Amino acid sequence: MEKEPLIVRHIGQLLTMIGENSSNAFSVLPDAAMVIVGDAVDWVGLDRDIPVHLQGIEVDVDGALVSPGLVDAHTHLLYAQDRAHEVRMRAQGRSYMEILEAGGGILSTVRHTRSASDEELLRATRRRLSRALLSGTTTVEMKSGYDLTVAGELRLLDLINRLKHEGPWRIVPTAMAAHAVPEEFGQDPRGFLDYLIRDYLPKVPAFAEVVDIFCEPGVFSVRDSRRYLQAAQSLGLQVKLHVDELADGGGAALAVELGALSADHCAFTSRTAFEAMAEAKVAAVVLPGTAGYLNHGHMPDARAVLGAGGWLAIGTDGNPGSSPTESLALLMPWAASWLRLTPEEVWTAVTRGGSAALGMPWVGRLDPGAYADFVVWEADHYAFPTYYYGTNLVREVYVGGRRVALNHGEVF
Ligand code: NIG
Ligand code: FE
Repeated sequence: MEKEPLIVRHIGQLLTMIGENSSNAFSVLPDAAMVIVGDAVDWVGLDRDIPVHLQGIEVDVDGALVSPGLVDAHTHLLYAQDRAHEVRMRAQGRSYMEILEAGGGILSTVRHTRSASDEELLRATRRRLSRALLSGTTTVEMKSGYDLTVAGELRLLDLINRLKHEGPWRIVPTAMAAHAVPEEFGQDPRGFLDYLIRDYLPKVPAFAEVVDIFCEPGVFSVRDSRRYLQAAQSLGLQVKLHVDELADGGGAALAVELGALSADHCAFTSRTAFEAMAEAKVAAVVLPGTAGYLNHGHMPDARAVLGAGGWLAIGTDGNPGSSPTESLALLMPWAASWLRLTPEEVWTAVTRGGSAALGMPWVGRLDPGAYADFVVWEADHYAFPTYYYGTNLVREVYVGGRRVALNHGEVF
């Protein structure tokens, strides 16, 4: 039997986010209601205009803010073990790259992930995904990349797909075997990429539609990244890149040349490179949490992205080293402050920006036809979650019209 419609009533502000481009995607309806049929939004409008004779289950949110579920377009949430011991190393003055070059960093997570069972990895990652939901994120891009062997990387992609089919979260898998040069390949990034081109890329289309690479001075060069990503494209795969995380290495121009879906990090990317990206419709996925956590003093120039008319997304980069979090909501006030964004720009970047970067038009907005993925906030106006930091303001979370998370907020 068809489920009864769900009628969400007395919404103080409903963020519909229905404009067609990055500079006008923000839209808000005051005193609103929303009707959901099946897993999609069927109607939005003023509460007083609810269609007469409509029958359904009513949910009264009592003047609260309702937004689309947040879209996190960049994470590495499938891994074993934390790296809390790096806090002490950083306090002693060792940089992210020094830790990696000494066989720590990504490579230490690789050792743990290789030896973890499927069940251990699934259990740890489910907990991270549950925390993501509880903090308002309903769509999560998730990269493989902590095994760095062909068989192991395919195992990780398979696990990501298992989590995707389990739900209730929406997951977008990305194949990122080119995440670091494994110890077996020593100082030979090219040899490692040859091995991936030959034995890995042809198998990827069964698991993911998009391939990513860490294109950064000291990891994979622009030349090697180009060859690898072109091989992926010749198999019908789409591409995206980690660029300019720790230095301006020219990766953004490569993203433009290849017509990538997005270029991510962009902490050191120049204004001209952002202009070329906007022109070529390559989204910029900026990760201010990582830049802040690594404390290298460079924030991505998000104003330049918007000034050039490009799509701007904010992601968490959730990973055990440079950004240990699942909470995109936590980053909203920091993005406003560090990137000099208005509340409207922050909301656009964590909803429609993410959906643009992932090529998923029916998430990140709430209008007829969109997935009914939404968050009821402990706030009555939309500026509040871009201002108030460090407290989880999420009250309830719905995916596909079904309530999947609830913060009781009870104190005894
Ligand atoms: O995006 N840059 C590469 N990958 C992650 C970090 C992964 C890690 O340190 O484990 C990033 O920052
Ligand atoms: Fe990353």
